[in-house]
Amino acid sequence: MSRFIGLDLGTSSLKAILMDEDQTILAEHTVPLKVERPHDGWSEQDPKSWETAATDALRALSGKADCSDATGLGLAGHMHGATLIDADDNVLRPCMLWNDTRSAKQAAKMDADTRFRALTGNIVFPGFTAPKVDWVRENEPEVFDKIAKVLLPKDYLRLFLTGEYTSDMSDAAGTAWFDTGARDWSDELLAACHLSRDQMPKLAEGSQPTGRLRPALARELNLPEMIVAGGAGDNAAAAIGAGVVRDGSAFLSLGTSGVLFAANAGYRPDPASAVHTFCHAVPGTWHQMGVILAATDALNWLANLTGQSARDLTADLGPLGTPTKTLFLPYLGGERTPHNDAAMRGQFLHLDHSTDANAAARAVMQGVAFAFADCRDALASTGTQIDSALALGGGTKSDYWLSAIATTLNITLELPKAGDFGAALGAARLGMMAATGAGAEIATPPPIARAITPDTALTQGFADQHHRYRAAYELLKDH
Ligand code: XUL
Repeated sequence: MSRFIGLDLGTSSLKAILMDEDQTILAEHTVPLKVERPHDGWSEQDPKSWETAATDALRALSGKADCSDATGLGLAGHMHGATLIDADDNVLRPCMLWNDTRSAKQAAKMDADTRFRALTGNIVFPGFTAPKVDWVRENEPEVFDKIAKVLLPKDYLRLFLTGEYTSDMSDAAGTAWFDTGARDWSDELLAACHLSRDQMPKLAEGSQPTGRLRPALARELNLPEMIVAGGAGDNAAAAIGAGVVRDGSAFLSLGTSGVLFAANAGYRPDPASAVHTFCHAVPGTWHQMGVILAATDALNWLANLTGQSARDLTADLGPLGTPTKTLFLPYLGGERTPHNDAAMRGQFLHLDHSTDANAAARAVMQGVAFAFADCRDALASTGTQIDSALALGGGTKSDYWLSAIATTLNITLELPKAGDFGAALGAARLGMMAATGAGAEIATPPPIARAITPDTALTQGFADQHHRYRAAYELLKDH
């Protein structure tokens, strides 16, 4: 029986899983990763640390279970990162990540050129790849001049694993150089950025083969020279893992960033809403999503501040009650949907003598729920109505948080049974598709453990507080 590997390059860790043809997870291994924030708004990672993490994870996997029948490997990764390499594949500078907002000026300039929204279907957000490379052109011209290829983070790992320069449609759609409707690079947008197609990787669908594990690496790791699939950006990969492929199905991810994701059968761009419209990981499908930059990241910030772990901070919150007047705006590094505002920062409002760490934690979690409600409204403005969504990501361990989100958005959240239904599983499924020729039918939804429904006694209170939250943003922006 064949086996398949999924590698998910996350922001805070790289995760590897091994599954069999029945999609039973046989082994998994996670390696932590560091993010450097040398200046306000900067967020960087050393691509060499991804190589080490992938090697360690694959070695650990083959130590934990028999990988000798592995025939397919899929890659998922955090999106938008600019990994710049020279003609000899040397990394030219640390990778600027998806939540790096230093290129706000360059992004605004590109966004004002109407061709970008028209062709990509998206606002040019500062976290996207193109404005970051333009920041390099303006601020580090000696680096820009040496760029032979621009690779997205998981595609840099592909180069390390296979020797191939290839990206997939879902991840390429987040660069701002991509014609998302046509599923191809836009020569016009590349030229507008002083770049050309030969500096871009080739393109494949997420479920297509893109190469094989390099023989020397396969020998070193004691793995077969298996097929490596196109894979996907982490959100499209998570959707494949969660079976969110059918038009109108949705998931809400409570990870480092927060994502409200809906699968679409057709291409439905609406850049003015600040909704992201990207290709999905299987041919002929697209997806929309609202993205908030700090979800569990906001709670982790409070945990650091209070010197408690996020788990301790959230242990005694009790059941959801009427929202307190304390309000938190989770814009620690600016925001994407719905504001496209790189300059905004986090805010605590209405603190009093009784505001302790627990009250602050409630406000932070509620603030993230309000940010998700803004994404729901943005998606609704494009005609995408969400009534229920699978709940994914580390933050779903907190019932308080799930209940706050379900009540604020007035939607049902479905919590999968214990197990991993995220990007690593999606990557392994794409690896299986590439190796066996299977299609989207193998991306089935997970069994549901329970549904979290809105607390109808509290929905009005949360809707009112959401209004205050919106008003607070309007008052405080530009300050
Ligand atoms: C999506 C985005 C984030 C990263 C996080 O546009 O920037 O979800 O992919 O991993």
